[in-house]
Amino acid sequence: MTRGGVFLIRGGRRLEGRIAPGGAKNAILPIMAASVLTDETVSIENVPRLLDVEVFSEIVRELGGKVVRENGRVTIQGGTLRETTVPFELAQKIRASVLLMGPILARFGRVEVPVPGGCDIGDRPIDQHLKAFESMGAKVERVHGQWVLSCRKLKGARVDFDVRTVTGTENVLMAAVLAEGTTVITNAAMEPEVVDLARCLKEMGAAIEGEGTPVITVEGVNSLKGVSHTVLPDRIEAATLLLAGVITGGSVFVEGVRPELMEAVLDKVDQAGAVVTVNDGGVGAAATGRLKSVNVSTSPFPGFPTDVQAQFMACMCIADSVSTIEENIFENRFRHVAELRRLGADITVSGRVAVVRGVERLQGAPVTATDLRASAGLVLAGLVAEGETEVREIVHLDRGYESLEEKLNALGAEIMRVEGEKIENPA
Ligand code: EPZ
Repeated sequence: MTRGGVFLIRGGRRLEGRIAPGGAKNAILPIMAASVLTDETVSIENVPRLLDVEVFSEIVRELGGKVVRENGRVTIQGGTLRETTVPFELAQKIRASVLLMGPILARFGRVEVPVPGGCDIGDRPIDQHLKAFESMGAKVERVHGQWVLSCRKLKGARVDFDVRTVTGTENVLMAAVLAEGTTVITNAAMEPEVVDLARCLKEMGAAIEGEGTPVITVEGVNSLKGVSHTVLPDRIEAATLLLAGVITGGSVFVEGVRPELMEAVLDKVDQAGAVVTVNDGGVGAAATGRLKSVNVSTSPFPGFPTDVQAQFMACMCIADSVSTIEENIFENRFRHVAELRRLGADITVSGRVAVVRGVERLQGAPVTATDLRASAGLVLAGLVAEGETEVREIVHLDRGYESLEEKLNALGAEIMRVEGEKIENPA
């Protein structure tokens, strides 16, 4: 595992052609967690090589599960799980380890996870998850920096989320499928990855209704069986690839994604003046000259995804006027702004709003990635900046994109990856 790898990007080339994204990281992780709900084998198809999947696999192995990864498939046997304490070092590396709470609690009646530290984009509380588990009968204690939850048998309950939370909804879903009685979740997240998890749980024998709507009902069952599940394409990677064409004045068609899962992004790409193509094979966008400045405000699905905010901001840096980008989901998700300014962008931030004044051109320079989606935004900016842009700490990108440079180079980009020094377990 390398930390500090660098992308050297020569800007100014138009990206053209067709490309397919990999399977959705944010569906794979909850489904890996769900695999501990059964003794039988769960195999997940369409899994790209992602650092987050490697770390999550490591955690499941540490707990006693068996995880095998081979050419695009991850096979998990949760039946050999013995441990119910998620290891601190690994949990700190991936926020999504919180997704193991529901399944381990449901299966073993006890789970211990580190109190989540902060992360690059916000302090990421899990109060909603804990409140939900308490309402299902769990005892929740905070002991020496660990959340310790215990409950002989979870009971179905009404869970009214105060905020729309993706992993909160997923955690409760996975706890409810083996609970006694009925659970009703209101203000549930409607992200396609939540729906994919629910689909997988139903294939395992769970009784779930209403996924993809604000109210989900779960009837607890006694046990779940193994399954082979193919995860949906990654709509965030698809948006990133589409915007790579848009920002460079080119034309990219992203294959295999369902257009209805990308409507909010496609609408903004259309408003920015690109010609959008939608058919049952996927989605495309072709630039038609200088981009128009467009205002964006992130919100839960089906709104504009926060995970595409940095990438869209990169496009607006060279648009024809002024755009405002409002980040409503996380409180600190503008860390790419300072780096974009190093490339010549004109952006001012006040609270949750970034005002982007389009400039004629960006100029290549060394920049540093801070978190997964910020690094994607910097790569897109580097594609259009004059001269060479060096994006450092590319390990952030490898958490959620498999060989992004190969995909972009296949569309005409000129990106060289320079491996960083090898560090065993980068923080
Ligand atoms: C998921 O994170 C995704 N991660 C994130 O993707 C994504 O950005 C986010 O949803 C929003 O769509 C995975 O699915 C693994 P939330 P999650 O709980 O579930 C607040 C990426 O780049 N909140 O929906 O952690 C929270 O602080 C990652 O792939 C509470 O206040 O996000 C935030 O402001 C980054 N209390 C808002 O809700 C809680 O108990 C939405 O968070 C839970 C959340």
